[in-house]
Amino acid sequence: MFSMRVLWSRLPSVTGALTVRPPSSLARIAQRVSATTFHSRDTSIDYPDAGGSPEYKSMYQRSIDDPDTFWGLAAKKHLLWERPYDITSSVFLEEGFISWFHGGKLNASVNCVDKHIKLRANATALIWEKDEPGQEERITYHMLLSKVCRMANTLRRAGVRKYDVVTLYMPTMPEAVYAMLACARLGATHSVVFAGFSADGLAARINSSNSTHVITVDEGVRAGKILPMKKTVDEAVAKCPSIKQVLVCKRTGNPVPMGPIDLDMNLEMKNSRPYSTAEVMSSEDLLFLLYTSGSTGAPKGIAHSTAGYLLYASMTHKYVFDYKEGDVFAFFGDLGWITGHSYGVYGPLMNGGTSVLFESTPAYPDYGRFWETVERLKINQLYTSPTAIRLLLQQGDEWVNKYDLSSLKTLGSVGEAINPEAYNWYRDVVGKGRCSIVDTWWQTETGGIMISPLAHDKDTKAGAATRPFFGVIPSILDPNGNELEGNDVEGVLAIKTAGPGMARTIYRQHERFLETYLKPFPGYFYTGDGAKRDKDGHIWITGRVDDVLNVSGHRIGTAELEAEINSHPLVAESAVVGRHDDIKGQSVFAYVTLMQGTKHNDPAAEADIVTDLKKRISAKIGGFARPDNVICNNDLPKTNSGKIMRRILRKVAAGEYTEIGDISTLNNPDCVANLIEKRKKMD
Ligand code: WTA
Repeated sequence: MFSMRVLWSRLPSVTGALTVRPPSSLARIAQRVSATTFHSRDTSIDYPDAGGSPEYKSMYQRSIDDPDTFWGLAAKKHLLWERPYDITSSVFLEEGFISWFHGGKLNASVNCVDKHIKLRANATALIWEKDEPGQEERITYHMLLSKVCRMANTLRRAGVRKYDVVTLYMPTMPEAVYAMLACARLGATHSVVFAGFSADGLAARINSSNSTHVITVDEGVRAGKILPMKKTVDEAVAKCPSIKQVLVCKRTGNPVPMGPIDLDMNLEMKNSRPYSTAEVMSSEDLLFLLYTSGSTGAPKGIAHSTAGYLLYASMTHKYVFDYKEGDVFAFFGDLGWITGHSYGVYGPLMNGGTSVLFESTPAYPDYGRFWETVERLKINQLYTSPTAIRLLLQQGDEWVNKYDLSSLKTLGSVGEAINPEAYNWYRDVVGKGRCSIVDTWWQTETGGIMISPLAHDKDTKAGAATRPFFGVIPSILDPNGNELEGNDVEGVLAIKTAGPGMARTIYRQHERFLETYLKPFPGYFYTGDGAKRDKDGHIWITGRVDDVLNVSGHRIGTAELEAEINSHPLVAESAVVGRHDDIKGQSVFAYVTLMQGTKHNDPAAEADIVTDLKKRISAKIGGFARPDNVICNNDLPKTNSGKIMRRILRKVAAGEYTEIGDISTLNNPDCVANLIEKRKKMD
């Protein structure tokens, strides 16, 4: 089995070039940690009873005053090292030089699986809540180890090598977890692409990451509907010259065409040895990429490192939710999302926990699905999105009250701001007023939760993300980049540190990483969100301040949508804005001008183009990004310098015609009346 060398008694060797901490903190890095602490299998840390409590405050203060000691001790306790690190952290934020635990060697799959074998081989690691209700499957840590090893051996035979990028296009099922961990075992970087992306969306992400292999399934199943996933992969791979092999796992078992580069994963795994060596990786080697949308350009491959990410995912999972050994933790969402990575897979498995993989939807076969699953699987911590909560709230309390939800202890919310009505319903109807509610703010880029109450925190408000997690310094800046000190202030949210879980770069686009996150406000990591700190010091997220939409928790870049719309031969120009939606948070609202000579104001011709555009977005990006509304007009409101006034377009989309303000400075003020007239017809 995996052998561990305990070298903590060694004093760290610190090379001059990387010495960035003052000498006193270097001395602290050199603190010797006894082998007893390191060997300790008890991963629990004294838990503060309440987030706003003195215990939280003192731990938070320690994490800020001396981050190296704080995270250093945690890293020794929670991570299983093949070789200990020498330097706790070196961070030069301006150039995006972020390094944690330099010199350390470890393997992520060993940390998530092998580490637990002695103590909890027969404990349940995963419960797969399949689309078909009542047919859950349980996977113990022992089974997980053998599956991960078999898959790693299969991938190795199929040619996957250390540092290759492997794209996963899979439903939320155990094989997706095996695939993530098998890649990690071989030192390959996984890039999970959400199964809602179309063939073109998938191809763009494969090509951007230069992936060598794709892992997929024959067909997916969601809400009883079959999704032809292998077929989508075939279409995508036809446009991806870097792909050498496609590995197909079984989900429905229906026959699908297999070509010369396709391999039957299940067959190969059956014939593979259930033990596989694990590559010894450096702390800063990449564990995974996850593509996400920004305000400009193509999607960005956000890159996360191994040691820092694993530590941050496990610490946040444990503290925010108060996860205890034996608890059943459930993220009701997709693995293809960062939340699926950090709290469906890495956080719970690092902590030796039981994670529910939920393949279905909140409405299948009926609106009681979440609650029936909670009762049947005795879920203790439930984590989901405000979109799902709002949808279920609208169906009435009967669905919730039919089931025994007494196992629940912590209820989490993520992805968008949660409105007070949804928050109160979650707390009172689902949690019966006795569960902790944690509204967790974070991003793909931050790797784990950044601002949230901790479970048991009594000092919370409906809709406030509340307090920073350990090590996080949230700063509220004015438009000039000045930090707004004290309480009762509002501005943009930036983070003054780069903790262990932060993204390290945009894959093969480091300059873009700097431009997007680090140059807007030097010395800070810019989040793209607005925030306020109220009179009590609680933090509220006020929404994106850039052109990124958030539709049911999916981040969608307006520039990406506009590029697709503009590629239509009859479209001259377009602008996409978000419109408030009671369930999805936002919906996509597009304004389009057609090429000269196209029949403007001809309803039949326009309707054809609109239908065409909706289909095009579904095909090129994915159904979740399809605009709900499109207005064709012969002009869009512009400034004298030709810049489209999105502010006006947002007001028109919202139906707030009286709040449009002064339009006299526009180049073409008349067009606003036309837009309003067309918008009114939509009601
Ligand atoms: C938004 C999801 C308000 C925010 C983990 C952020 C939130 C974007 C919250 C990241 C919250 C996420 N309150 N807004 N609790 N959580 N957001 O990368 O705009 O898919 O920037 O990561 O979602 O979305 P992403």
